[in-house]
Amino acid sequence: QTGYITLDPGYGNTGSCLSNITYIDGDQGILRYRGIPIEQFGNGPNFIEVAWLLIFGRLPTEEEYRGFAADLNANANLDEGMKLHFEGFPRAAPPMAILSAMINALSCFYPEHLELDGHDSLRLASARLISKIRTIAAYAYRHSQGLPYIYPDAKLRYVPNFLHMMFSQPYDQFQCDEVVRNALNLLLILHADHEQNCSTSTVRMVGSSQANLFASCAAGVCALWGPLHGGANVEVLCMLEQIHQGNVTPEEYVRRAKAKEGNTRLMGFGHRVYKNFDPRAKMLGEAAEKLLANLGRTDPLLDIARKLEEIALQDPYFIERKLYPNVDFYSGIILRALGIPTNMFTVIFAIGRLPGWIAHWWEQNQTMANKIARPRQIYTGNGQTDYTPMAGRS
Ligand code: SDX
Repeated sequence: QTGYITLDPGYGNTGSCLSNITYIDGDQGILRYRGIPIEQFGNGPNFIEVAWLLIFGRLPTEEEYRGFAADLNANANLDEGMKLHFEGFPRAAPPMAILSAMINALSCFYPEHLELDGHDSLRLASARLISKIRTIAAYAYRHSQGLPYIYPDAKLRYVPNFLHMMFSQPYDQFQCDEVVRNALNLLLILHADHEQNCSTSTVRMVGSSQANLFASCAAGVCALWGPLHGGANVEVLCMLEQIHQGNVTPEEYVRRAKAKEGNTRLMGFGHRVYKNFDPRAKMLGEAAEKLLANLGRTDPLLDIARKLEEIALQDPYFIERKLYPNVDFYSGIILRALGIPTNMFTVIFAIGRLPGWIAHWWEQNQTMANKIARPRQIYTGNGQTDYTPMAGRS
């Protein structure tokens, strides 16, 4: 049985959520998708296999995988009418605003998905959403650059097709080599779910009113946008760039974060649940080193990140508060090495997190279909107060 329960009657409905999807042990630094430790995804499955695992509860058979991949390919294009929306956005529009708006707009083009009644309809809606989020993201980037849209290529797999739509030119197709494909594939997998984080809880909250899947995921995009959540990967790069440009030393930056000067935080550090290393940060730090080595490049921002980590992990302020690198601390280094523009980092996080949102929306839909989430509060406002007509106010 999954869904919302009241764990602490003393606070009324501050129930936690029961779920079968993802397990986290914050003290041990453990993260498992449907029981499988994320460390086992390092050299194996691709993102679409993991998406199926999260949504349908087990790894796909080869036949299921091929069928789902075919559905993704068949649904990679956007309705031509959707392109008119892009033209209406300013070139400098935040890509997360476009992403949320366009995911919601999908509910206008696929009214048959406003209600999902079983495995087959969930599978098609999931394929459409997981496939089209790439196209929407790529078109948002192309529009911001004044570049022509590049249509998806059915011969390409999920990650290469996305990078093709982002970076190809009409006369020159982007070549995605294996190193690049594997790095982005792993990054998407490591972002795919994380139990009741802010954006996933938002998707469950919105979905609890029986709002459709597209509307619920559009709300998740908005929650993810915040700099304390998915937007942190952009803030980490800004922090590293600030240090790299010599405006501040790593030691001085850490001092400012400890002193909370101007609300300075060591972005990419700390977590509500992990009071040990975020296992994703470990894997992404290693993947960043490996990617740069395979590309025959170095990145001073990675050296700065390692220096910040070294300083913070020896500092009593961080040790006492159990603040460790989280998923956002190294992800930006990888995305930067892949040529992804900084303002698209959180969009990539959303592409990765989408299967988790879908899985949680469906789990709740199946177990709590008629139970709207309705948190209660502790009222701290005025006692009963009488109305004062305008003339009597001062
Ligand atoms: C994600 O929930 C999820 O699972 C999220 C996520 C996912 O996969 O969905 O893992 C993705 O959102 C990762 C987090 C990305 N955000 C950041 O990296 C932003 C920087 N981190 C912090 O803002 C903070 O650590 C949070 C928001 C992540 C967690 O905040 P909490 O648990 O509410 O902790 P807090 O703000 O109450 O801080 C407790 C103390 C405070 O100091 P004191 O009042 O005790 O003196 O720790 C300090 C904070 O000032 N602190 C930090 C800090 N994070 C917490 N001080 C300096 N730098 C930091 N990063």
